[in-house]
Parts: sequence; structure tokens; C-alpha cells
Amino acid sequence: MNYPSHPGPIGVFDSGYGGLTILREIRNLLPQYDYLYLGDNARAPYGTRSFDIVYEFTRQAVEELFNRGCHLVILACNTASAKALRSIQMHVLPLTDPDRRVLGVIRPTVEILGKTSSTRHIGLLATPGTVKSHSYRMEIEKIYPGMEITEQECPMWVPLVETGEFDSPGADYFVKKYIDCILNTDPEIDTLILGCTHYPLLLDKIRQFTPANVNILPQGELVAESLSDYLRRHPSMEERCTRGATVEFLTTESPEKFDPLASLFLGSPVSSTRITL
Ligand code: DGL
Repeated sequence: MNYPSHPGPIGVFDSGYGGLTILREIRNLLPQYDYLYLGDNARAPYGTRSFDIVYEFTRQAVEELFNRGCHLVILACNTASAKALRSIQMHVLPLTDPDRRVLGVIRPTVEILGKTSSTRHIGLLATPGTVKSHSYRMEIEKIYPGMEITEQECPMWVPLVETGEFDSPGADYFVKKYIDCILNTDPEIDTLILGCTHYPLLLDKIRQFTPANVNILPQGELVAESLSDYLRRHPSMEERCTRGATVEFLTTESPEKFDPLASLFLGSPVSSTRITL
């Protein structure tokens, strides 16, 4: 595959708006780089889709970002990280361009758990796709054998965010429902992973319905730290990331729909371009 060889922006991909919560933290920590964000809003949510479809959509998105000059792409989406990352790393990169890299969000989130939990009982709130993949369970068992993990699907949370209903009184019912459910299943949980990048947009409500002694773990800062560490350890990749402090937004939905909510979530004006994958 002939992707552009000159240095380019860091690609950040999500099914929709959720990856903006990761991009915000990455830019706070590493403002000097250029970023290219892609939200596949027209086909979100991914969380209820089959393994093959999430893989196919994610592969298309990654290739699009490579074609637009990115050498490094962050899957700022747990569902894509759970269902597509490994296959892309093992089967796509070796055939297309072994020097490009795709990183996910699950590993950096799991690594911190040793510091946040004293009961060693962890709860995962995530999309049905991420839960069914058991990617978090497998990663936790590898790094922290003996930790207890309870996985809770929250199928209504992404639609609440994608439709802009995240702050409505109607959202309370579904936010409380899944939190009650996971804490009833294991009352010893002292750390709840927000294992979907859309969920920080529901953070105020999630806090409201979670007991104060339970840590809530959004992923943005963890992923930003881990990217910074990655770039420090891989100077040849760092040299291929341009430093112009710009950010560009692509969406598969209409910009009229994407821009207002994206601006709200990012905390600064967003002007996107529509593309098809
Ligand atoms: N934001 C994504 C995640 O972290 C995907 C949500 C979805 O499209 O269902 O899982």
C-alpha cells in the first residue's frame, strides 16, 4: 500500500463523539502535535454490532487515516480496541505498512488498577461488544491475577450521548440502573472502569448515582500519559508526527449535526468535514 511517507498528524478514531474525551486529554498533555480526528457517527453505535462488522469498519477508518498521512493511530474507542485492534496489528499492518502503528485504550486503563483498588474488586461499565469480548477480563488476569472483575453492559448509554440526551432527566433512569446492577452483583467493588470513551460525557450523572467510596476511572488522562510514554520510547515514530499544534475533524455524518455537539464535548469550536468510508 502506498501511504504518504512524509510526517503527518496523529490519528484519533472513534465510532462517534466518545473519542473527543480522549483527544481533549491528549491535547492537554501533548499540545504540540497535529491531530486528525475521525468519528464514524453515521454508523455509530458500534457497541451492539458483531465482531466482523466492528473489525471491518475500524479497518476502513484506520486505512483512511493512514491515507491522509497519519503514521500513528489511536483507537479512542474500547469497542474497536476490543474487537479490531489485535487483528489489525497482526493481519493488516504487516501487509500494508509494518512501520505504521495502531494503539488502543484498554491496556493503559488496566495498568493503573493496581494503584486504584484496595479491595481488588473491579467493575467494568462498557458496551455489549466490549463486555462480550472479555478483553478487560483477559488483560486484568494477565497483569493482576486474582483481581475480581464484574462486567456490566450499558447498551443505553452511548445512544444517550450520540443523541445529545446525556444531560436530560430521562438519562437518570438508565444511568442509575446499570450502576445499581453492577454494585448489587458485587458490593465489594471499589473501582469502576468507564470502559467506553462516550461515558465521561455522562460523568456528572454517573457520580450522582455512585457511592462516594467507589473510584470512577475515566480513560482520557491514562491514554494521554501512555501515548506520551510511547512517543518517548519510540523516537523514530515521534519524528514522523508533525508539530503544528493543529486539529482537524472528519465525520461520516453531516457537519451540521456533528459540529455543535462535538464543540460542546471538546470545549472549543469544531468545524468538521464529511467523508465516506
Ligand atoms: N466510544 C466507543 C467505546 O469506547 C464506542 C461506543 C459505541 O459506538 O457503541 O466503546
